[in-house]
Amino acid sequence: MGVPKHVAIILDGNGRWAKAKGLPRTAGHAAGAKNVRKVVEAAYHMGIRYMTLYAFSTENWNRPEEEVAALMNLLDNYLKTCLAEAKKNNMRVRVIGDISRLDPAMQDKIRNLEEESANYTGFDLTFAINYGSRDEILRGVRKIAADVKEGRLDIKELEEETISRYLDTADLPDPDLLIRTSGEQRLSNFLLWQLAYTEFYFTPVPWPVFGEKELKEAVRVYEERDRRYGKI
Ligand code: IPE
Ligand code: IPE
Ligand code: MG
Repeated sequence: MGVPKHVAIILDGNGRWAKAKGLPRTAGHAAGAKNVRKVVEAAYHMGIRYMTLYAFSTENWNRPEEEVAALMNLLDNYLKTCLAEAKKNNMRVRVIGDISRLDPAMQDKIRNLEEESANYTGFDLTFAINYGSRDEILRGVRKIAADVKEGRLDIKELEEETISRYLDTADLPDPDLLIRTSGEQRLSNFLLWQLAYTEFYFTPVPWPVFGEKELKEAVRVYEERDRRYGKI
């Protein structure tokens, strides 16, 4: 079937990985953040074209305040170094999710990174930050309703494709392969609309130690599958 064009990953298990080593959960997040660069590079060399990473969910605000602060700090640091990497690797970076709830300085960094990397065409890296699929659909429906009300959208022209256009992922293809690390087998509010025909791969390996070998194995399993899209 060939290498998947778009791989989405639910990065999970940072906390459990740290706990098993007798470290605080935040050490797991630091190790997980470090791992992002490695996995993105491996994906690029394998011929994957798009990668979307679930970094912080709308539900993750319910974690202890210090943990949320540590996660935000790691994301902020990553965004700081990301532009240089985007330039070096011809990589376009996007963020999906409701960024209006993030620190204003972080929002600026995100907008700047998206603008500065908008013309890079070698690889597309997307981070889901304060992302929840139901929230994304709700925001999309609100925009559709406003556009209908203002006469910008004719309700008779409302198609499935229109809905896709009103989501944060409007200019991204749907993922071909979804990976979730660390054993849980649920979506946790990730890309519910976009994953309608995606292949799922679950691995017990926690995110901080999920590397090139594990990504290759996920792709190998994917390549052996038979994607039918309803046909025989
Ligand atoms: C993934 O690891 C990172 C985020 C969800 C932000 P977790 O923090 O969920 O780690 P576990 O699942 O508790 O081990
Ligand atoms: C999903 O992981 C969210 C991210 C990876 C950002 P969680 O660890 O937060 O999900 P649940 O709570 O186990 O479903
Ligand atoms: Mg988790």
